[in-house]
Amino acid sequence: MQTDLRGRDLIGDLDFSKEEVETVLDVAWDLKRKRALGEPHAYLRDKVLAMLFFFPSTRTRGSFEAGIDQLGGHAAFIESRTTQISHGDTERELGEIFGRYFDGIAIRHVTWGVGNRYINLVAEASRVPVFNMQCEIYHPFQILADLMTMMEKKGRDLRRKKLVVSWAYASSYLKPISVPQSLILQMTRFGMDVTLVHPPEFGLMPDIVDQAKAQAHKYGSSFEVISDPDGMEAAMKDADVIYAKSWGPLMTTTDPDEGKRIQDQYKHWIMDSKKLAVAKDDVIYMHPLPADRDIEVTSEVLDGPHSVVFDEAENRLHVQKAVMALTMR
Ligand code: CP
Repeated sequence: MQTDLRGRDLIGDLDFSKEEVETVLDVAWDLKRKRALGEPHAYLRDKVLAMLFFFPSTRTRGSFEAGIDQLGGHAAFIESRTTQISHGDTERELGEIFGRYFDGIAIRHVTWGVGNRYINLVAEASRVPVFNMQCEIYHPFQILADLMTMMEKKGRDLRRKKLVVSWAYASSYLKPISVPQSLILQMTRFGMDVTLVHPPEFGLMPDIVDQAKAQAHKYGSSFEVISDPDGMEAAMKDADVIYAKSWGPLMTTTDPDEGKRIQDQYKHWIMDSKKLAVAKDDVIYMHPLPADRDIEVTSEVLDGPHSVVFDEAENRLHVQKAVMALTMR
């Protein structure tokens, strides 16, 4: 087991090896058990995490803030508009300065073509670990929580389990593509048979798709991409896990109006009971939330017996505590 993660950043899903991810999960289960039993686990007493947000959050903010407190530390919530970033503070300056104040720096920045670069530039200048709380390419902590949840529901050995990552319609806004991208990168490493299904305009970054194929080849899993205007229901046949959520057609256009026009052609891509019925009887339904209720997924599915979305949201807390405890000591 690879246990020395001190000082490490987590920005992309493959930054931690498979063995290191297994260490994170092992620690996450231990911390989950300790919290359930009320056992103290203040491994980061007096450590402070900076949480810099360029985009709103419910779960990510709540779980990081609660997590560092439970580990004996403290979080500084920093909303980017309240800083001097727009007046000239550079990524390098931020990394240098925050690296001297804080023991870890977590950043959410999902602006297309900007966020991932921003986080990496801060990390290059920082002497403390930098965590990606979601950028336009990756959402690694969400996917660690998803992996933990799948293992809790389907067993630690996920090999040959069928995971369907499906696009779904939403009307609220063009959601980032980071969740499906991180899913196909991480889950292929754990032996799952991953099917990605979306309408033709909703493809993911070719480089990420190629990396997912390479991971599948390396770890003996399978990965298929179905690009079909009516492919959602058929793809779900015999699924063990369905992860159906919306994302924007960002490889086709980054124009919000054009993207909405494209998206509106696919209102029938709603996750509903009819589609769930073609999967295995014990299929689980996952979504990172927030969801467009009764547009992206029906309430019947979201609140139904196959849905594990609250356990999934809870596990954000445990995996993030595990990564912080392993890296910020
Ligand atoms: N799943 C997730 O990242 O939720 P928030 O956007 O509320 O943080």
